Amino acid sequence: MQKLLITGASGFLGWYLCQIAQAEWEVYGTYHRHSVKPGVPLAASPIHWMPIDLTDLDALKALFATVRPNAVIHAAAMSRPNDCQDDPVRSYQVNVVASCNIADLCEAAKIPCVFTSSELVFDGTNAPYREGDPVSPINLYGEQKVAAELGMLDRCSQMLVCRMPLMFGNVPHADSFLQPFIQRLQSGERLKVFVDEFRTPVSGEDAARGILQLMDKVRGRIHLGGKERMSRYKFGQHLVAALHLPETMLQPCRQADVPMSAPRAADVSLDSSLAFSLGYSPALVKDALVQLLGGS
Ligand SMILES: NC(=O)c1ccc[n+]([C@@H]2O[C@H](COP(=O)([O-])OP(=O)(O)OC[C@H]3O[C@@H](n4cnc5c(N)ncnc54)[C@H](OP(=O)(O)O)[C@@H]3O)[C@@H](O)[C@H]2O)c1
Repeated sequence: MQKLLITGASGFLGWYLCQIAQAEWEVYGTYHRHSVKPGVPLAASPIHWMPIDLTDLDALKALFATVRPNAVIHAAAMSRPNDCQDDPVRSYQVNVVASCNIADLCEAAKIPCVFTSSELVFDGTNAPYREGDPVSPINLYGEQKVAAELGMLDRCSQMLVCRMPLMFGNVPHADSFLQPFIQRLQSGERLKVFVDEFRTPVSGEDAARGILQLMDKVRGRIHLGGKERMSRYKFGQHLVAALHLPETMLQPCRQADVPMSAPRAADVSLDSSLAFSLGYSPALVKDALVQLLGGS
């Protein structure tokens, strides 16, 4: 089997990537602060777990020398816009500098590299966005994703930038916006959801499947959004329905009602027709939520 190195394997998307990739690859997954199965010897897992701080260039070079991967999916990041806004120096090192170093190492090894970028490279005023549309980030996280995209595409000739939408899922050890929502609803608390924020959400599992499916088929940039544009409120309607709860559990609100460190884009829906034409086929949100929460 060929070796696939997945950075950020301890994170939300990385976990799905590892689970699915195992069927066809020998998977090496990196983690930083969170060992994925605390207490379980790493060697017992079918995934080779590699601890690393990706901002340490010597450690990164040693990782490539040890693993000698045939391909890399770089999914590690400081992925929360508010954290990036609050710590611009550290987040630049993680999101931009480490990403560019990974692209350099992939180019030196003559192997393909996939980078998980974000819908937040856009400002949200001109959706739906296609791959060729001009970028226009409105927060530091978005700016860092743009800088990483440009730096990596410039450095690595076998580069694929996957712009990811809002993703949901249920990963035991990693954060997703879904789990706190579900906990609040199940404890009887009403959930505030934006009526004026639109996304093209997709399940983490479908997103991971899409990345793995397209990584050999395309180079450059590709959008991996879901099939439907919907408000956070509409997403909430699907969520309460999947949990068999009444819609009165939802409290509609507007972005302006909730102050945050990082400015929020109103509508960063992605036009993913290119990926759809290449076989990417994510489930509808309603169906994905029912499948995910079937036992709830
Ligand atoms: N989730 C979404 O809805 C969404 C939407 C659009 C784009 N994206 C992008 O998709 C990718 C994956 O997102 P995610 O939600 O899976 O993120 P996540 O759950 O926050 O996971 C981030 C991963 O990055 C690792 N990491 C962070 N700093 C590191 C460092 N200095 N050295 C090594 N590893 C480090 C973390 O390791 P530890 O936890 O072990 O410290 C973790 O494995 C990111 O590029 C993100 O920007 C996500």
